[in-house]
Amino acid sequence: MTYINQLFNHQDQKVTLKGWLYNIRSSKAIHFLEVRDGTGLCQCIVAADDVSDAVFEAAGTLKQESSLEITGTVLKDERSAGGYELHATDLKIIQLAENYPITPKEHGIEFLMENRHLWLRSRKQWAAMRVRNEIIFAIHNFFQGRGFVQLDSPIFTGNAAEGSTTLFETDYFDEKAYLAQTGQLYGEAMAMAHGLIYTFGPTFRAEKSKTRRHLTEFWMIEPEMAFYDLEMNMDLAEDMIKAIVASVLEKNRAELEILERDTTALEKLAEKRFERMTYTEAVERLKSDETAKLLDEMEESRKRELDEISKEREVIKKEHGSAKKWRKVQIDQRMKEISARIDQIEEDLRNIPGWKKSARNFEWGNDFGGSDETVLMMQFDVPLIVTHWPAEIKAFYMKRDETGKLALGMDILAPEGYGEIVGGSQREDSLAVLEERIEEEGLEKEVFEWYLDLRRYGTVPHSGYGLGLERTVAWICGLSHVRETIPFPRMLGRLRP
Ligand code: 4AD
Ligand code: MG
Repeated sequence: MTYINQLFNHQDQKVTLKGWLYNIRSSKAIHFLEVRDGTGLCQCIVAADDVSDAVFEAAGTLKQESSLEITGTVLKDERSAGGYELHATDLKIIQLAENYPITPKEHGIEFLMENRHLWLRSRKQWAAMRVRNEIIFAIHNFFQGRGFVQLDSPIFTGNAAEGSTTLFETDYFDEKAYLAQTGQLYGEAMAMAHGLIYTFGPTFRAEKSKTRRHLTEFWMIEPEMAFYDLEMNMDLAEDMIKAIVASVLEKNRAELEILERDTTALEKLAEKRFERMTYTEAVERLKSDETAKLLDEMEESRKRELDEISKEREVIKKEHGSAKKWRKVQIDQRMKEISARIDQIEEDLRNIPGWKKSARNFEWGNDFGGSDETVLMMQFDVPLIVTHWPAEIKAFYMKRDETGKLALGMDILAPEGYGEIVGGSQREDSLAVLEERIEEEGLEKEVFEWYLDLRRYGTVPHSGYGLGLERTVAWICGLSHVRETIPFPRMLGRLRP
């Protein structure tokens, strides 16, 4: 058995592929089978002249997602997707599939989510998962290459570290336990034992709102570094993100193409320094005339585009009735693109007035909302690191600046409208100050005693951050919603499949 992504090693040789039928087109003497095997797609040509009558007939009965084994010769073909096609000499059907629910026609998102277990086989979903895999690999590579030790933090925990409103509570043998919102506090303990560590695990937050950025179960990578200050923390995160992007650009060209990701901005990342500004500067930018003007321009250009493609739609609609068959196929395809684009434009046009208002009226001291992040990050093609946040809106464990008013936190916002992908900080390392914070926040001191021990026994300046895997996948793949960045997303109202 040979895998499709290895066909380049088998040019002009006879091989057997095992996989599933992705698509079939037939004419009198030839069936064109698009076969997928998990590693890629390959066009297989079953010609009446090359196979037995029984095989030729059997090929004609194949339906989408039927499983099969196909043998033939590998020929180079520049025009086909993977660069090679298979000229079949034999075909065995493993199972003739029932009518497959996901067809090439357009499906609504709810239907696709209900069929996530099958939707994973579709090309774009497949490509996004391959990129996710590469990102995970690149992260391990990056940290392992720098001497970090990967250690795991527990999922069952007695500590709330990121606010009490998003806790999943569970019963732990008659004791109250929570699913981990973060591994950080444990990460700090492990960093005091190993210096440089990172955790890589699932985290849970009872997010009660439906947004394109929130899951209730997501994966977080949390490095924690003894003797790092905020500056070193930022430098590390910047290097890590650049390493991830470089790795995906190197290994996932084909996947990014399937995802129709315009890689111009990603391409430029390597040689550019990330933008850095304080929270206060970011607020000024958000409220600025410049931002308002940008949104006005965006609104105008969306309206113009809507006008133009609506006209185009009218014209090709008229043409459809009398068009030849091949042209009808073309028109149907274009109509599908147009209707998707119109949905997008109409959504933008609905959003823009709210964005404008929210940006203009933003008040210093508030946290950025999703739309504020979108508006801010439409203006950048590299990530933006925002530092020095109002202490009130940040977690109790963050160290504060000399004034005591600002937290030495850093969020990294992804460009092209994506928003926060990293949250981190320098940690409070003074026992007295941390005790005070815990008291102020009304947290139960007892459950944090072990954490306070880290400040009793050889406390040192230290820092760390958390990278959200799914948001990173969304940005790099150019996906508009995190639900397509994880095999089986968990969100408000979505527990199955
Ligand atoms: O900013 P957050 O809440 O930071 C922490 O949890 C820190 N303890 C991390 C640390 O310093 N070790 O979360 C970190 C990142 C966010 O920037 C975001 O990318 C992701 O985790 N994230 C989510 N991703 C998907 N769905 C959610 N509900 C998320 N909440 C946070
Ligand atoms: Mg955050």
